[in-house]
Amino acid sequence: MKFEIKRICCIGAGYVGGPTMAVIADKCPNIIVTVLDINSQRILDWNDKNLSNLPVYEPGLDAIISRCRDINLFFSTNIKEEISRSDMIFLSVNTPTKTKGIGAGQASDLKWIEASAREVAKYAKGKTIVVEKSTLPVRTAQTIKLILEAENDKKSSQENKNEFFILSNPEFLAEGTAINDLNNPDRVLIGGENEFAINALSKIYENWIDRSKILRTNLWSSELSKLTANAFLAQRISSINSISGLCEKTGADISEVSQAIGMDKRIGSFFLKAGPGFGGSCFKKDILNLIYLCNYYGLPEVADYWEGVIKINQWQQSRLTEIIVSKLFGTIAEKYIAILGFSFKSNTNDTRESPAINICKDLINEGAKLRIYDPKVSKEKIEIDLKQNEADNLKSSENISWYYSSSILDATKGVDGIVVLTEWDEFKNINWHEICKYTRKPTYLFDSRNICDLDRAKKENLKIWKLGS
Ligand code: UDX
Ligand code: ADP
Repeated sequence: MKFEIKRICCIGAGYVGGPTMAVIADKCPNIIVTVLDINSQRILDWNDKNLSNLPVYEPGLDAIISRCRDINLFFSTNIKEEISRSDMIFLSVNTPTKTKGIGAGQASDLKWIEASAREVAKYAKGKTIVVEKSTLPVRTAQTIKLILEAENDKKSSQENKNEFFILSNPEFLAEGTAINDLNNPDRVLIGGENEFAINALSKIYENWIDRSKILRTNLWSSELSKLTANAFLAQRISSINSISGLCEKTGADISEVSQAIGMDKRIGSFFLKAGPGFGGSCFKKDILNLIYLCNYYGLPEVADYWEGVIKINQWQQSRLTEIIVSKLFGTIAEKYIAILGFSFKSNTNDTRESPAINICKDLINEGAKLRIYDPKVSKEKIEIDLKQNEADNLKSSENISWYYSSSILDATKGVDGIVVLTEWDEFKNINWHEICKYTRKPTYLFDSRNICDLDRAKKENLKIWKLGS
């Protein structure tokens, strides 16, 4: 059996589906790639002539879109037609943590995966390879298989029946560096049972990735590897963040400790930057998934171990608010505070699980008036995340809880405190001389990412708190 892959489609035009398909289209000019979504506005945005309106901000993505869009890369809502003519279908829909029912707060909500699998079952024709791209709990491939087979069983004649081949091909890209990660991955993982289907997917990647980096495993190893990779990365961040608290008590400096331990080859220097806690759509969700799985399979000790990683992450976020309140003389009621950075990391407009959300909510609860600035996050997104509409909030000027600011200078006017929450490049070289002309004195700088030029800040008599020292 041999597969010839001429057309690919991807269900889900989000942070994973969009960039991943763009790179596949760029590297495989002979394959037609269509990215599908039920959200028609999202598809309109992907098709926007003005590339700064793309729904995902990712360095280098706009250049690929302008090279490939409408040539061999398409964005469409025409799910039925595209599924029916595709040889390979990627599932890249959202899989957030369940908010209610069994497993609420831990298990992944698979309703979007299930819905898209049903669409595939209904419309696919002939031999079709279905590739899991979303992060999924272990053994989800089995669920997808059952759905596809059930739909097939309904079909009457043998001729109309499809043949489905399921592969797990987890995505390891990190937002903000997605294009580079996709172009030069450390490895590509393909899990599956059918050798010919695995070969077909491997051949696509071999257009730009060395074969030695393409790893073949069984389905469950592939699914579990993705959860484990994210759990390990998140565990490193919680480990270093836990030590940042200890540094503050003892006079050690977390940057020095990170450097010292990172030079040990066995530990390695990546993912050792202390900060306000990890965010993003994957880490928390994947660890919760792992915890759920461990409890389900009767391994409560293992579940408790991973639970600790999440607890430290929550602790790191909430202790930041306590520090801000305590430094600003025990109360921040009615005080203006600048928030620099709202995305969960730099170089992305994504705010999912951003530590900024909890920290801003806590500061607002303490009565502060925030002035929020982020180079890429829109006002509308912040409104959704804080569950508070800026316009309504401004109507009653007594109770203003936050403003959307268009620049660092605008955000810092009249403030008592400046809190740096995301490591955007433009926060590294702030002209503190200019900023301090307009702040209320004494002004405190809280650098939760250890990126600010503190020598320049000190010259302006800013009071400084930096994480982990
Ligand atoms: C992560 C994984 O890295 C990626 O492989 C997987 O496919 C998806 O999840 P992402 O969430 O996009 O990627 O970004 P990542 O760079 O991993 O950062 C996650 C969070 O950890 C961010 O909030 C970041 O600020 C924080 N972080 C990262 C630190 O606080 N310190 C570090 O040293 C590294
Ligand atoms: P990720 O970070 O995993 O890419 P996103 O939330 O950014 O997650 O993107 C997932 C996308 O999948 C969303 O744009 C959503 O509208 C889309 N989606 C969810 N369910 C379906 C479905 N059944 N058919 C098509 N698109 C879907």
